[in-house]
Amino acid sequence: MKVSFKELGLVNTREMFAKAVKGGYAIPAFNFNNMEQLQAIIQAAAETKSPVILQVSKGARNYANQTLLRYMAQGAVEYAKELGWKKPQIVLHLDHGDSYELCKSCVDFGFSSVMIDASSLPYEENVKLTRKVVNYAHKHDVTVEAELGVLAGVEDEVSSAVSHYTKPEEVIDFVKKTKCDSLAISIGTSHGAYKFTPEQCTRDPKTGKLVPPPLAFDVLKAVEKKLPGFPIVLHGSSSVPQEYVDMCNQYGGQLPNAIGIPEEQLRKAAKSAVCKINIDSDSRLAMTAAVRKHLAENPSHFDPRQYLKPAREEMKKMYIHKIINVLGSNGKAR
Ligand code: G3H
Ligand code: 13P
Ligand code: ZN
Repeated sequence: MKVSFKELGLVNTREMFAKAVKGGYAIPAFNFNNMEQLQAIIQAAAETKSPVILQVSKGARNYANQTLLRYMAQGAVEYAKELGWKKPQIVLHLDHGDSYELCKSCVDFGFSSVMIDASSLPYEENVKLTRKVVNYAHKHDVTVEAELGVLAGVEDEVSSAVSHYTKPEEVIDFVKKTKCDSLAISIGTSHGAYKFTPEQCTRDPKTGKLVPPPLAFDVLKAVEKKLPGFPIVLHGSSSVPQEYVDMCNQYGGQLPNAIGIPEEQLRKAAKSAVCKINIDSDSRLAMTAAVRKHLAENPSHFDPRQYLKPAREEMKKMYIHKIINVLGSNGKAR
């Protein structure tokens, strides 16, 4: 059954992004796959009055079922109101859509925003496929994110060993031809918990901690200059908090040399035309760290609520921290 996102109480990204670019902050785009993640995201957004993007990957859709996810998002809007958030601004977004059919299906199923990620295709094919998705989505007032440049690591089934930074000289032509509403660019972030090898990092002589190479802010600046005020998106923006990596490892995990993007770099990006910052791995780490700790300390527990409750609390704490201390989106949706 077809449904419009408007009937579900969701919003698209148009107004939200325009405000964020102007205001020098970024909207959190948190991936979710299950109820506990969704509860934590909505509680965090409602408490901080932050607009929020609920992201569903193709993998999440296969894991949880598209219909269920749609009603979970609708439920999230009602839950947010119940929590005292008078005008919740919640987007349901397809993350890394890899075909026209998938994007169309999400538009028809109540998503308010879709990403068509044709970044691994040759330029002209990327333009063609993105334009086709935009044509359909805009008929339904659904906004579209596209991508130029390739991120290292895994993007659902698309994987690349190396990243190719976005070429600023291509962005005007791409946006003009595709009419996309926002553009994901590659400036050195990547997906997952292993964004850099220790060899790529330097060691801070004071703290002894590994410091990853800086993001390519020169590329971001050049893109901003070409497309003044146009909404830019940053994928692969988990910071991989050391405390969660340590907690996982302490309680039986094996996450050697997990390294993310330092938060001060993301803070800097959020103040620019970057108006959407994608975070998935940090939520996975928070959840897994809390579950591991709880089960190690309470070996007799077998009721999932016993270990998922602290996991949910840990994720909520992490989301609130990102919203207030990294993205600056708190108080922007009252
Ligand atoms: O971009 C990738 C997101 O973290 C989603 O990951 O495809 O494993 O759900 P997934
Ligand atoms: P992380 O793996 O850094 O959380 O990135 C998530 C992402 O970009 C989802 O599209
Ligand atoms: Zn991504």
